[in-house]
Amino acid sequence: MTPKDNQYKPGLAGIPAAESSISYIDGDKGVLEYRGFPIETLAEKSSFEEVCWLLLHGKLPTSKELDGLRAELAEARRLPDAVLEIVRSLPRDGHPMAALQASIAALGTMQERVDPHDVRASEVACIRLIAATPVLIAAYDAHRAGRDLPEPDAGLDTAANFLWMINGAAPDDLSARVLDVALVLHADHTMNASTFAARVVASTEADPYSVCASAVGALYGPLHGGANERVLNQLEAIGSTDAVPSWVEEQLGAKGKVMGFGHRVYKTKDPRAPILQGLTRELFGKRGTTPIYDIALALEDEVTRRLGEKGIYPNVDFFSGIVYQELGIATDLFTPVFAMSRVAGWMAHWREQMQDNRIFRPRQVFVGGHGATYTDVASR
Ligand code: COA
Repeated sequence: MTPKDNQYKPGLAGIPAAESSISYIDGDKGVLEYRGFPIETLAEKSSFEEVCWLLLHGKLPTSKELDGLRAELAEARRLPDAVLEIVRSLPRDGHPMAALQASIAALGTMQERVDPHDVRASEVACIRLIAATPVLIAAYDAHRAGRDLPEPDAGLDTAANFLWMINGAAPDDLSARVLDVALVLHADHTMNASTFAARVVASTEADPYSVCASAVGALYGPLHGGANERVLNQLEAIGSTDAVPSWVEEQLGAKGKVMGFGHRVYKTKDPRAPILQGLTRELFGKRGTTPIYDIALALEDEVTRRLGEKGIYPNVDFFSGIVYQELGIATDLFTPVFAMSRVAGWMAHWREQMQDNRIFRPRQVFVGGHGATYTDVASR
């Protein structure tokens, strides 16, 4: 073994973990593509359902295939009573991501074991998970608020049905479209931590429910999902537009990070950000501005003025939290909403992993000692 073989890369940074044809990022040029389609095109012309099909099958659906998928998703949103009962038995004050992880695992106990090499069975499992995730989130939200969970509306798509189930009112077209586009934007993002977690669990040939529950666990961590939750807390802490310049001065002076700016991969604008920014403008243009939105605009100006030349711009999370709040989504549901989109990507990676699987077994660099002397417990 050469010394180079023994070089440890914290976080496996830059080490290829899989060959994949699902999504593509060029961080220097600000490009994101799903199956070769630019994210801008998909956001403008497509829908979350169509993107699910694209990610899972590698091509756009025909209108018959898309109608079939919509019908199957609507059917699969009617969850077994037993899993809803389990959601209702969870403590009301837990984090909704912990509840989601538990309830997806519970749903797995109610399904037949999926043969990952059976194409139709694996497709059905993907559809069930994409359909179930938003309903499980809404079910926990209703449970903790002591509300009844509305029945899913078979006439609505994923985004509109979710808004219906958490708000108890059918959303207007613009609200439904804004959430639909947000779901399109978050559906896959190459080899991030939760996708890697999904692929590691998939490589053991565990069932897709375990794959998905593990990925939810990885997404729960504040270093992965959750940045948009912190953006909103930050805007609330700033308190007013007048306070923005001094707050930024203090933050940058203390070498602190402004939440919602910069990106590990994109060294130019995050291509998802301007898409959501445009929709945010449209939403607040129609509904009227709010103090939080005004603070966000002032913060965007100030930080871009000070850090723009370093390549630090607002990222997708800067706008998503502001939008989700306006759509009536509670702050601690922001990461679950991320999960209800990313489940499509996780499932596409599960299927891809199964096509050419080898169990993950990386190496460690041992840094401990040898030849330790055992002393009996009574003599220690
Ligand atoms: N606020 C203030 N300064 C920032 C910043 C931010 N949000 N993001 C980057 N910078 C600074 C860095 O500290 C660095 O400064 P230096 O030149 O004095 O060392 C410089 O800008 C270049 O940073 P860069 O290398 O491009 O970013 P990174 O890879 O170190 O960090 C993040 C990337 C995402 C971790 C970082 O931008 C961050 O913490 N952002 C806030 C959290 C967030 O919104 N996360 C969601 C991402 S989708």
